[in-house]
Amino acid sequence: MDKLQIDGGRRLEGTIAIAGAKNAALPQIAASLLSPHALTLTNLPQVGDVANMLSVVGRHGVAVNVAGPHTATLNAGPANHVEAPYDLVRKMRATVLVLGPLVARFGRARVSLPGGCAIGARPIDLHMKVLAQLGASVAVESGYIVAEALSGLAGARIVLASPSVGATQTAMMAATYATGETEIVNAAGEPEVADLAACLAAMGANIEGAGTHRIAVQGPTNWRAARHHTIPDRIEAGTYAMAAAITRGHLELTGARLEHLGALAQMLETVGARMWPTDRGLMVACDGRVAAADISTEPYPGFPTDLQAQYMALMAVADGACAIRETIFENRFMHVPELVRMGADISLRGSTALVRGRTKLVGAPVMATDLRASVCLVLAGLAAEGQTTVSRVYHLDRGYEDLARKLVRCGAAIRRVPE
Ligand code: UD1
Repeated sequence: MDKLQIDGGRRLEGTIAIAGAKNAALPQIAASLLSPHALTLTNLPQVGDVANMLSVVGRHGVAVNVAGPHTATLNAGPANHVEAPYDLVRKMRATVLVLGPLVARFGRARVSLPGGCAIGARPIDLHMKVLAQLGASVAVESGYIVAEALSGLAGARIVLASPSVGATQTAMMAATYATGETEIVNAAGEPEVADLAACLAAMGANIEGAGTHRIAVQGPTNWRAARHHTIPDRIEAGTYAMAAAITRGHLELTGARLEHLGALAQMLETVGARMWPTDRGLMVACDGRVAAADISTEPYPGFPTDLQAQYMALMAVADGACAIRETIFENRFMHVPELVRMGADISLRGSTALVRGRTKLVGAPVMATDLRASVCLVLAGLAAEGQTTVSRVYHLDRGYEDLARKLVRCGAAIRRVPE
């Protein structure tokens, strides 16, 4: 296990290349299970979660051919194993995304109940419900979700109780095998859902409306070999945008797309930083101390829950006080006590954090608890006076490719050392 040592107080200036989106790549890797033909994914980020998902589909019998750091060809022609065991699934909640493809293609799936980030109860009831609505029988038996549809799935009108990203993806993938039309109402509109639809369309699926709250899938599918380039990671880009703001620096984020980061761009403008498109991506600049401003996390295109912790680090040194309300996950404030150890003034009231900005934070040893909480501590460390040590860096490795090196190239003082 490694830790990061950060000497704070340096302004960041330079260029950071944004990797492919982890949260788009994971369902696309799961989707490879649907087709008997090969799927080549390019622009895969080199992060722990992607490696884990490749192992999961490998265990199902998918031939995984890694052709360079960001490209893999997945051939599920020989796949036949329908059980996803606990030892792989416990590491990452997103492995539940294999459930839909397995039951759709093979008529049966047995997937261990997932683990993953400790950011709340994170039930998977909606995934199970959408499969049941398509005609599968679904039950939980001894810690496993067991789904069966031996005589196939049938198109249906599915109304999601809440616009879950994962449940929308499960429904979309399973519906590619269902006969007739499936309509998904109150679907999640996140760019990662639209990118999964683009990937499935390249594989032969007939999908309309992904990226809106009503998706129609016409099944069954004539599968074909396909190639898909995963979208850039809007959360990685948003994280570095906040690194620029917290260090009063200037960063160009190549590959990043403004249209995926509208809510953040608006907030940065409100607090006194700027974000604008360039030929290669996005530029972010901040020349002074930011002002405090309230946010509430919302489904896309609202302010993303995956940037809430990073925004809180920025507000910890803002001029004034603000309220940060988390509406997506009920326990996503584990970074708060760690930020307080660094001198932040934050109090919690239910799902709202009240942050009173300080003129400075002070370096301290802190512990990463989940992916976005850990990166928020890195941002705080970049701005703090003195040295910050962030332990349990494996959380960061799950979702950030080359984080320390990317920041060091822009002037940060960060060392990765064994714990
Ligand atoms: C995805 C992202 C995650 C992000 C989240 C919200 C991936 C791999 N992960 O997670 O980084 O924070 O979207 O943007 O893409 N829920 C249920 N029952 C279910 C499913 C979800 O109650 O069956 C609840 C969750 O507990 C949560 C809310 O719905 O409170 C939203 O979750 P969801 O959109 O499903 O998030 P994920 O797809 O898990």
